[in-house]
Parts: sequence; C-alpha cells; structure tokens
Amino acid sequence: MRDDGMISPVGSTTEPVPSLEFGRDVVEGLAQDPKRIASRYLYDALGSRIFEAICALPWYKITRDESALLERYGPVISSGFEATPTVIELGTGSGEKLSLLLGPDGPQTSMSVHLVDISSAALMRSKQTLSRHPGVEIVTHEATYEDGLVAALDRIDRDRPAMIIFLGSNIGNMAPAESDRFLRKSCSGCRPGDRFLLGTDLIKPEAEMRLAYDDPLGVTAAFAKNLLIRLNREFDGDFEVDTFDYHVVWNEQASRIESYLVSRVEQVACLRSAGCCIRLAKDESIWIESSHKYSVETVVAMGRNAGFSLREQWIDPESRFALTLFEA
Ligand code: AVJ
Repeated sequence: MRDDGMISPVGSTTEPVPSLEFGRDVVEGLAQDPKRIASRYLYDALGSRIFEAICALPWYKITRDESALLERYGPVISSGFEATPTVIELGTGSGEKLSLLLGPDGPQTSMSVHLVDISSAALMRSKQTLSRHPGVEIVTHEATYEDGLVAALDRIDRDRPAMIIFLGSNIGNMAPAESDRFLRKSCSGCRPGDRFLLGTDLIKPEAEMRLAYDDPLGVTAAFAKNLLIRLNREFDGDFEVDTFDYHVVWNEQASRIESYLVSRVEQVACLRSAGCCIRLAKDESIWIESSHKYSVETVVAMGRNAGFSLREQWIDPESRFALTLFEA
C-alpha cells in the first residue's frame, strides 16, 4: 500500500507478500471435499474494489437498505451512553457505513475508532472516508474479525464504553456454529453497558436473492474469479480463469446463498509456491462463499444466546434488512 492513500496497481511489486496462513488455508481447503476457499480471501486490493462496485449494483441492495437505516437511526443508536463510546468496526470496507452512523456533523466530541479488516486496501480507503469527521482518531487492525476484535479490546480506554459494530451482513459469511461462537466471544470481551450493533440481511423471495449474487452484468462473477487471479499471483499458480464458471445456489434448509467456481473441464492446476497441485473433474466446484439470510427472530436469538440483551431493533417497512442493537 502506498502511503499517499492511493491503492497500488494490482500485481505491482508493492502488493503484500502472501501470508503463511493464506497458503496453509488454501492447501487445506482444496484438499477437502467439496473443495473450498474461505471467502475472506476474496478481498485483495482488486477484490475490495470490485466489492464496492457490487454495492452499487441495482440488484445488490444490502448496502443501500442498511445505509437508509443507519442514516435514519444513527443518532438513537449512539445515544444514551454515559460517555463518548469507543467504536470498533469489524470489516469496515469503504468506511461509508460508519460515516453514516456518525452523522454529517458527528461526532461532537473527540472519539476513538478502531477499524478491523482483512484487507489493507479497505483499511486505507476507510481511513480516508473517515477523515471527513475531524474529531475521529483512527487505529487500524489488519486482521480477521476475531483477532482484530481481541487486539482492539486490548488497546481501548476501558473507562469509556465500547460500541462494536458489525454491519453489511458480514456475519452472513459465518456458518451458525461459527457466528454463535464469535458472538459469544464478543460478548465475553464486553463490559456491562457496551453495545454490539449487528446488520443482517433478511430472507426474501428466492429470485431476488439469486439476482443479488448472480447479477446480469457479471460483476459478482468477476469478484469470484478474481480469487483465482489472486491465487495465481500470490502462489505462482496456473489456474485458467476462463475454464471456470461462477454459480450460485440458494440452500433453503441452511438459509444461505452458496457461491461456487465450477470447472468446465477436467484439469490439473498448480500453485507452485504453495507446493500444491489439484485435480478438478469436469463440473467440479470450489465453494468460495456462503451468505446466510436471517429472520428477525433468528437474529435476536443469536444475540441472546451469546449473552447479550436486546436494546432495540430497526427494520425497514419492507422487512429487507435488520439493524439490531444488543447490549452486554
Ligand atoms: C460482504 C459478506 C456481506 O455476502 O453479501 C457480495 C459479500 N459476495 N456479493 C455478502 C458478497 C457476493 C457480502 N458480504
């Protein structure tokens, strides 16, 4: 990442070196049946930018639905604290949602904000967005949600309340066992009076959910295939991107959209610097993401199971999206 805040050209020499953990995860995931790669690896510099383009697509309404709620209820979400809270945002992305929550002339006093994201490009972008808010002092954590939250809780001033915000239905990438564990861990890291704001996409008609993840412009397909480009770049690989199709499935029982890269041909692809070659049968898929969809009741139950109490919940009139404010 350049220190002028610009994103480096993808594939340039300033691209971060692949972490050992990434290599290990990829090798492990591709050895499983079905083959899988964790969705957090979709967010290299280009992936983060394609995701921002997805948020502007007419068929992907999560960002707009949630933004409307944040704009409208931002003041009440942040009100009633005894002192100015420290905000910890998990998966900050572009920073636009947090900016909406803070409001056009907020915060009124100086405020410490900890941004957690797996993508250094996203952190840089978010920091830039939040520079609109003069009173905000920013600390960044390039880490997974869990590690980032621990690191942030470790560093914040405990004389102030904390407000953890987990927006955009980012929690939807976690399987129920994972989100339960994660929420429980978050709650146990909180002190009484701390808050946890959770943004969740709600279940809608299937056709609408499918279009949101398989858009007619092919932007989401590009987002998915960029994972192969990233693997080739970071592990000296030879995946032929053109031989893969992007495919989504609505799994009703699990209440999630599942996204796959499907090999159109039988092939062997190698990731030389990860020391791994994989064989793909014709029509075999690599599972790259799950996006869970929730009912209002499930969301409340998830928070309560984790030890939080419900403070307030906001849902748009068409029941598309829920913002739920929990308290520890
Ligand atoms: C950022 C995880 C919330 O699952 O809706 C968008 C990512 N993937 N289109 C989602 C995504 C394909 C998104 N999250």
